[in-house]
Amino acid sequence: PSLKKAIIRYTDENYDRCVAPENVIVSTGAKQSLFNILFTIIDPQDEVIILAPYWVSYPEMVKMVHGIPVIVTPEDGGFHPRMQEIEAAVSSYTKAIIVNSPNNPSGIVFSDEFIAAVVDLCEAKGIYLILDDIYHKLVFDAHRAAPAYQFTHKDLESSHLIVVNGVSKLYGMTGIRIGWVVAPRKLVEVMVNIQAQTTSNPSVISQAAAEGALTGVQSAVESLRLTIQNNRDVMMQEMQAFNGVHVTSPQGTFYCLPNFQAYEKDSVKLANLLLEKALVVTVPGVEFGMEGYLRLSYAGAVKEVIEGIERMKWALDPDSPNEIYIGDRKLVRDWL
Ligand SMILES: Cc1ncc(COP(=O)(O)O)c(C=O)c1O
Repeated sequence: PSLKKAIIRYTDENYDRCVAPENVIVSTGAKQSLFNILFTIIDPQDEVIILAPYWVSYPEMVKMVHGIPVIVTPEDGGFHPRMQEIEAAVSSYTKAIIVNSPNNPSGIVFSDEFIAAVVDLCEAKGIYLILDDIYHKLVFDAHRAAPAYQFTHKDLESSHLIVVNGVSKLYGMTGIRIGWVVAPRKLVEVMVNIQAQTTSNPSVISQAAAEGALTGVQSAVESLRLTIQNNRDVMMQEMQAFNGVHVTSPQGTFYCLPNFQAYEKDSVKLANLLLEKALVVTVPGVEFGMEGYLRLSYAGAVKEVIEGIERMKWALDPDSPNEIYIGDRKLVRDWL
């Protein structure tokens, strides 16, 4: 109950919504929150609109509950979703739309106009709008991820908005596994049943840790944001080392999604090469619905960001020296 109280206060302070304990369910990470939501609302063959680039788990979770993921990819080649493409994807089977802004993997923050329009669409058509807000305070420069509640006149019980949040990203508490949902009571009631029969409740130790994070000194979040913003700047500077690689500067999160097609069109092949030859972990864009791209993280130290890009450059540039040392380990170019 005391964690719920902290979440209710968090919702009031950050979303300007006064919600009841019956509107909140705490789960084992935002991941379980999202799964509980989909398990609650999806009937077999229901469609869920997912905006590419998307977080890898959305389509998989939709399929696991026998729904159909409907992927909408911006035709202009950018990362910002476009309303006309979403409207064209809506059918009589559409049960929900998942919106994740700031976005993993692109780092883009969706515009207020877009969020307002998608809220309108969902309310007009009775479609659930699932807002994965897990990165909502990790925004850079003057960008801001506006709460979707701002764009509805409906109260929580009659709205179709379902907000997901957690401590993994803002407080660097990924392993603690605490996420939550704020939603109309009738949905939370079903999610409570699902959770009661599956995991009961998140560990009380983790609940206490999350409560500590939410009620403690909040300057840690701002200092994380500033550190990551600086890392973003370093990453963007370092990315200039690659010829022909286009990267959109992230407005939030700790990822970017450069287009590496100038080097290799098959992102799995490229990610494997970088892992095996340069010992750099990237995630292939195809997993996010963006073949030819790689997701790079700048959550680590500046030194790691710089070294990671240097190693990638060494691996990909045929003009770079034949051998490099990483610590006392010698890497030899034997593939280009
Ligand atoms: C967009 C997005 N949503 C949800 C999650 C899951 O977060 P949690 O650690 O709270 O399960 C992640 C973690 O990678 C994420 O990137």
